[in-house]
Amino acid sequence: TETNDIKKGLAGVVADVTAVSKVNPETNSLLYRGYPVQELATTQPFEAVAHLLWHGELPTDAELAELRRTEREHRALTPAVQAAIELVPLDAHPMDEVRTAVSLLGAVDLAGSGSVLDASGSPEANLERSIRLFAALPAIVAYGQRRRRGQAPVAPRDDLDYAANFLWMTFGEESDPVVIDAFNRSLVLYAEHSFNASTFTARVIASTLSDLYSAVVGAIGALKGPLHGGANEAVLHIFDEIGQASNVSDWLEEALASKRKIMGFGHRVYKRGDSRVPTMKTALDELVEHYDRPDVGELYAELESEFVARKGIYPNLDYPSGPAYNLMGFDTATFTPLFVAARVTGWTAHIMEQLAANALIRPLSEYVGPDERHIEGYVPDAAEV
Ligand code: CMC
Repeated sequence: TETNDIKKGLAGVVADVTAVSKVNPETNSLLYRGYPVQELATTQPFEAVAHLLWHGELPTDAELAELRRTEREHRALTPAVQAAIELVPLDAHPMDEVRTAVSLLGAVDLAGSGSVLDASGSPEANLERSIRLFAALPAIVAYGQRRRRGQAPVAPRDDLDYAANFLWMTFGEESDPVVIDAFNRSLVLYAEHSFNASTFTARVIASTLSDLYSAVVGAIGALKGPLHGGANEAVLHIFDEIGQASNVSDWLEEALASKRKIMGFGHRVYKRGDSRVPTMKTALDELVEHYDRPDVGELYAELESEFVARKGIYPNLDYPSGPAYNLMGFDTATFTPLFVAARVTGWTAHIMEQLAANALIRPLSEYVGPDERHIEGYVPDAAEV
């Protein structure tokens, strides 16, 4: 059989057009609707970036105020979602908890909405669903971390914007502006990245005219894997294993000898460095200073320089965001759920884009199994002959 033109992992395959974001590995740039992500991350609140991804333009003051009003309306944990979360075993992975909560949210929201033929919904309905999901996820993620620490949920605060309120609901105390800014940056940087595995999953599901929530649930499943979103969590496990900068050489020697992948390094598209890293690294530096944890900065720098020198493979966004989330006080297992809360904006923008010009996504495969064979003694019936 000819398998020559199969692109394993769809590497290098352009599957469709998108106007949501542009990744350019040559110039090391990432644009959301034309704006460099670095500019957005350092000047815009996450809500404004969500609006940009959905609508194609940054919001006017009135539009931002309107989005913030709706977001506040849907911030609180509903009793149904809280009950669903509490059914998930405490030692299940938090991504399973988030996936379950979103699934329940979808079932409640779509209840009574008619036949499967109406599932994909109108553009207006899908925009509303996107905003509701975006608004509901922080409380889900925050309560997940709290409950694993034996704490009750914290009600949202109407006087706080998205990022500050997210931290408030997680920690039950007001965060320092340095921390809020670093957190907001991470959300903006995680929000969107063209046809990555989870976004593509969401588009495949949307392309069958299934509903937006089902597409997001599928995307959460794809994001959980350590080759994708799970890497930010994996980076912290590596940091914990290494302990301190002076252990890096020996640790790396052994890890490479046993052919381990070093999480937080490498990228399918960026081969000369991830465009989002410097912006997040600056935020990490500020956190290192704020919390007076030079040891974290030293370990980060040592592992980066040794690994780059030995393999020529550069860090991706998960490398600075993992230790940044750790310093902010998030549990390691909460990192990938934070990625969900951010990326839900990109996913939903892509789902709406897919539906606006839909074609069922259904590729072909090259069969390499056994040749045709038959069940011994099988007698075809008359209709088959
Ligand atoms: N550690 C060690 N070796 C690596 C790494 C790494 N992190 N990344 C790539 N390589 C090696 C790989 O072993 C292979 O070597 P060889 O040619 O000798 O077999 C070569 O580099 C090419 O790697 P690949 O896995 O074939 O390339 P890919 O385009 O399929 O990989 C990747 C992209 C992200 C899956 C991979 O770099 C990886 O597994 N990285 C670690 C996980 C990670 O950090 N994921 C986050 C991705 S970015 C943000 C996100 O989505 O969350």
